[in-house]
Amino acid sequence: MTRLALAFATGLPKPAGPTVVIYPNSQFDLVDLVNVQIVHPFHPINRVWSDRNLKTTVMLPAAHYDLAVVCCTRSKKQTADLIAQAAHCSDIVVVDGQKTDGIESHYKALRKQLDVNGTITKAHGRLFWFAGTDLDHMRSKLQVVDGFTTQAGVFSVGSIDSGSELLIQSLPKDMVGNIADLGAGWGYLSSKILGFEAVTNIDLVEANHIALECAKLNVADPRANFHWADATQWAGCYDAVVMNPPFHTGRTGDIDLGRSFMAAASRILSSKGSLYMVANRHLPYETFLNECFGKVVEQPGDSRFKLFHATRPKRK
Ligand SMILES: C[S@@+](CC[C@H](N)C(=O)[O-])C[C@H]1O[C@@H](n2cnc3c(N)ncnc32)[C@H](O)[C@@H]1O
Repeated sequence: MTRLALAFATGLPKPAGPTVVIYPNSQFDLVDLVNVQIVHPFHPINRVWSDRNLKTTVMLPAAHYDLAVVCCTRSKKQTADLIAQAAHCSDIVVVDGQKTDGIESHYKALRKQLDVNGTITKAHGRLFWFAGTDLDHMRSKLQVVDGFTTQAGVFSVGSIDSGSELLIQSLPKDMVGNIADLGAGWGYLSSKILGFEAVTNIDLVEANHIALECAKLNVADPRANFHWADATQWAGCYDAVVMNPPFHTGRTGDIDLGRSFMAAASRILSSKGSLYMVANRHLPYETFLNECFGKVVEQPGDSRFKLFHATRPKRK
């Protein structure tokens, strides 16, 4: 029995009206809730829920709910922000999460400022609930760094990633044509690449809707196009692809995700196109890169990051 099912069995009132479930992973058990709105900004997970015929959205709608269930994310600030939003629009707020996602610190912080009505600890995690209230002081603010806007819950919040910076320094200054930025994040790579005048178009493909909204603020150039999408499924025909591919799914290392990005790059590049990629030095990408491309050159990186220039895509 999941923590939520146990909570309903031991005192959490079943909602008569609508429920919103905020940031549930794709295995989250909705028990037998009906009239459920799912909120998830990450495209592949949002898609899983909509394929199950649930109502999905990327942001909490302006509506009132009987129950809001907030699933902890890896970002403490983002989770606090989601709890505050839920508390504003719902009669009862449930917070559920693993210890590794900081549920205990949210529990401790909230117990100091409001009455917690019940709690369940189970399976290395905790769930607790309380009545909706004003927690606006917990809302997170946009963070501006070197003129770039970032927000809790995105990659490299409040700073420019050193690997991405290294990639930009290594790019040829004569980049031309149609470019794809796979996993574009809040837009650092694209904003710099648009400094090359011969670039005619850049497609920023990013699964995290929050990051893409930041990118729209950071990349104000008519040559940029923004796509909320799964980069591993992206189609097109490009002169160059740039990327600093993700290598985590949640907290778990996921080498295959990075490899799927490389496969996507080889599929969408023109026969004369180039992939420019940075990766953490410990990631074993070389064999797979050589399966996807006829020529792979490792360029000088540093102790933490390696840089690759791959050409002659094999169209996997
Ligand atoms: C290592 S970060 C790089 C971000 C940005 N390019 C930069 O250099 O700062 C990888 C990015 O890929 C995004 N991402 C992860 N899985 C994705 C997917 N399946 N499709 C598109 N983007 C994805 C993450 O949200 C994250 O923004």
